Amino acid sequence: NNFTTVEQMEAETARLRECAACSGAETWEDRKKAQTPSCKFGEDGVCCRICSMGPCRITPKAPRGICGADANAIAGRNYLRMIAGGTAAHSDHGREICHTLHSTKKDGHYQVKDEAKLLRLAKEWDIPTEGKDIYDIAHEVALAGMMEYGKPFGTQRFLNRATDERQKLWNDLGIAPRAIDREIATAMHMTHMGNTADAEALVMQGLRTGMADGWGGSMMGTEMTDILFGTPMPKDTEGDLGVLEKDMVNIIVHGHDPAMSEMIVVAAEDKDLLDYARSKGAKGINIAGLCCTANEVTMRHGVRMAGNFLQQENALLTGIVEMITVDVQCIFPSLGPLSECFHTKFITTSPIARIPGSTYVEFHPETAREQGRDLVRQAIDNFDKRDPAKICVPTRKQPARVGYSCEAILKELNGVTNSHVDERDTYKPLIDCIKAGVIRGAVAIVGCNNPKVRPDHSHIEIMKKLLANDIIVITTGCAAQAAAKAGLLRKEAKDLCGAGMKRVCELVGIPPILHMGSCVDISRMMLLATDIAKDWGIDIPQVPVVGCAPEWMSEKAVAIANYVVSTGIDTYLGIEPQVKGSVQMMELITEGTRKLTGAGYIINTNPDTLVQAMIDGIEAKRAALGI
Ligand code: SF4
Ligand code: FE2
Repeated sequence: NNFTTVEQMEAETARLRECAACSGAETWEDRKKAQTPSCKFGEDGVCCRICSMGPCRITPKAPRGICGADANAIAGRNYLRMIAGGTAAHSDHGREICHTLHSTKKDGHYQVKDEAKLLRLAKEWDIPTEGKDIYDIAHEVALAGMMEYGKPFGTQRFLNRATDERQKLWNDLGIAPRAIDREIATAMHMTHMGNTADAEALVMQGLRTGMADGWGGSMMGTEMTDILFGTPMPKDTEGDLGVLEKDMVNIIVHGHDPAMSEMIVVAAEDKDLLDYARSKGAKGINIAGLCCTANEVTMRHGVRMAGNFLQQENALLTGIVEMITVDVQCIFPSLGPLSECFHTKFITTSPIARIPGSTYVEFHPETAREQGRDLVRQAIDNFDKRDPAKICVPTRKQPARVGYSCEAILKELNGVTNSHVDERDTYKPLIDCIKAGVIRGAVAIVGCNNPKVRPDHSHIEIMKKLLANDIIVITTGCAAQAAAKAGLLRKEAKDLCGAGMKRVCELVGIPPILHMGSCVDISRMMLLATDIAKDWGIDIPQVPVVGCAPEWMSEKAVAIANYVVSTGIDTYLGIEPQVKGSVQMMELITEGTRKLTGAGYIINTNPDTLVQAMIDGIEAKRAALGI
């Protein structure tokens, strides 16, 4: 059945690193060694450097900082600041996309691809559309979206999409997010020296700040991106470093905001540039993606995925990458010195991510098309600069099926099982499968890689075990690419499933793991869970659905975990949040939130134990429903 194992992935990494050792290249494995052991105070979240009286570190002998803050206050403030950082990142990305939508013109560089979705959103937001030009509507919707970031009154518009129970609960708890920027500012203000020292209040603001991400900025990113570049539909593609082609000009797009990469993808299809590449001896132009930029362009264009977070340096070690262009987030600064070891051009494009050793080409919507073409031309000019002594061609890749937006999932479900043509699309066929026990439940596997655990190992082992237990998996981000590399996004992965899931996959014609996109697209998962609950007639915490981030590392992941928990979905973490130095904080994030939102964290660094806990959690939810 030729699935790729983690051992095979590790062997490939070792081979690339050996190849590269001759050119003096250094990667995260080397730096991880130099950083071990890591600072215990930092790991436990009990180092405070919020004011210059400190830094203060909590020990049994010194249980309070100079100002009197205890471990609970310090760990809680550090935790909330992580959430604020993560929410800022996702939401600012969402805002940037609003600006791109606002720049659209009929004959402009960016256009509206999904008019139906634009009109749906305009209607949802009470923006009149009748008799109006589609671009006027786009600009009004974009502006309304941008206002969600700074409006002085009211809460996020997208909250109306949730179940009535959730909306009421969020209001009652006081975690319905106001303007997105305000929640981030409130988090920063609360954690300033001399403000909140009460861990519970910090955790509550953590939930609200996270909500400003998932039901605010991230959802904004997803919606506006779909309107601009099209709502994803299932597509065949490939994943892993083997998608890099020795005989072609290889350009890697990396980061999260797809505005720039879309232009590069379009430019690479231009005939004159293709001819130019051929005139330089290349067989063509090969665009490959890393991290969430890859997820965005693979979902809409089938662009192949070179890999995920901890593979970004490996991509350069191949010696056949002419250019790596990055936008924002998850970009290693090490790409600067590393690209200098090779002929690779390293291009930064956003004022948000300026990195030494790169060439900075600031991207603007008004000049995007020319800029995209210019970058592709520069990459072609770089093709004959490869150093043959430094080439180490990767071979491993796997076919993958991607692009399961909620719209796509509904289409697949209703296409097969629903004979009533005029009935609205519904998750009922899926719910019936869950009720019958053919599918036991669903798990959303999301998030990054983290050198604290074997890269991709937890993702892949957890996914396999879930499939074997008839649990359907939905995935985004680097977790999705781990699945792609392993070959788990193929329809053939049904062979890893129990009999029930296997039958469903065959009947509906889907792989058992559905690629739902980038990290901001976890907002799609929130809507999926919401609409399943609505169609089922129960509240979200009752649905046998849980979330899992087995290898998370970024502040964005902490923001996500907070909106997932607020939405009522238990969140299983394979990496410990840095709050262990506070017993109260540990209690609050595991059991404390459960008493309020119906969900909390379950933390375990052993993937076998973690997946068993998920299975037990899903079975417990089934038992409670009497199914
Ligand atoms: Fe120390 Fe308090 Fe300043 Fe933190 S805020 S560094 S605990 S004095
Ligand atoms: Fe991501």
